[in-house]
Amino acid sequence: MERVFLNGRFVPREMACVPVTDRGLLFGDSVYEVIPAYGGVPFRLAQHLDRLGRSLAAIRLENPLSRAEWESMIGELCGDCGDLDRSIYIQVTRGAYPTRSHRIPAEVTPTVIAFSSAIPERDPRIARQGIRAITLPDIRWHRCDIKATTLLANMLAQAEAVEKGADDAIFIRDHLATEGTASNLFIAHEGQLATPPNSDQLLPGVTRDLVLELARDAGVPCREAAITEQDLHRAEEIWLTSSTRELAPVVRLNDEIVGDGSPGPLWQRMDQLFQAAKHRIRQRARARSENQR
Ligand SMILES: Cc1ncc(COP(=O)(O)O)c(C=O)c1O
Repeated sequence: MERVFLNGRFVPREMACVPVTDRGLLFGDSVYEVIPAYGGVPFRLAQHLDRLGRSLAAIRLENPLSRAEWESMIGELCGDCGDLDRSIYIQVTRGAYPTRSHRIPAEVTPTVIAFSSAIPERDPRIARQGIRAITLPDIRWHRCDIKATTLLANMLAQAEAVEKGADDAIFIRDHLATEGTASNLFIAHEGQLATPPNSDQLLPGVTRDLVLELARDAGVPCREAAITEQDLHRAEEIWLTSSTRELAPVVRLNDEIVGDGSPGPLWQRMDQLFQAAKHRIRQRARARSENQR
């Protein structure tokens, strides 16, 4: 049975209901997190919970649970996952109130939702053939560092990419490439990796930080630097990174071929390091369940 955590209790998914007056629904007044769990062990949990804390603080909503409460609830959801790779979705809204008003209520009772979903296996064609992307103007607001549920602009850009025969879109703001519709951006040029620095123009991705860490440990030159539209078009490699899509190599940008049109050598290397980090988590999960037997 799939369980949903709703306001302090685990309930069957079909029984998990929120009122129509919830501010998450009426105003998009809410933030979220997506945490991958491999073999039942959450990956980079502390980083995801830190970012959730920052998103909540940025929208002036007190964190409804302590760190220990988050960890225990996520641990329970992961316990339902068995050996499967799942992602844990968490959403905190400002709650439901009798009247619809733009004014933030004085007394707040947030709504807290969490559930797990399967992470589909990566399509082997992505590693072999890569994905296609288009560039689109970044029409989003100026607080893209908040993991807010107001994702209309992201979804519309994704839809436009698909309509134009691509898999995803990369946002351009003031001639600078910011990120993908649900991912961070890396480029490789002359053996050097680059990703835009964290700012209010993009989400500080947990996968992005892990890739930076892995690159530094492996001695791969890597910079956090603005990426101009021109840099993007000159890059030998482009990748999009996220917790559920991992490292996705872009082999076609608009009408141009990226590099030689196949996933590049730096992507191969970093993807191997990323897969090894995942593998270590799975081993830890296996060792833990053997100890519990
Ligand atoms: C807009 C945006 N940027 C970047 C990311 C990547 O973040 P993470 O690596 O923490 O999943 C996401 C993930 O959903 C996203 O929605």
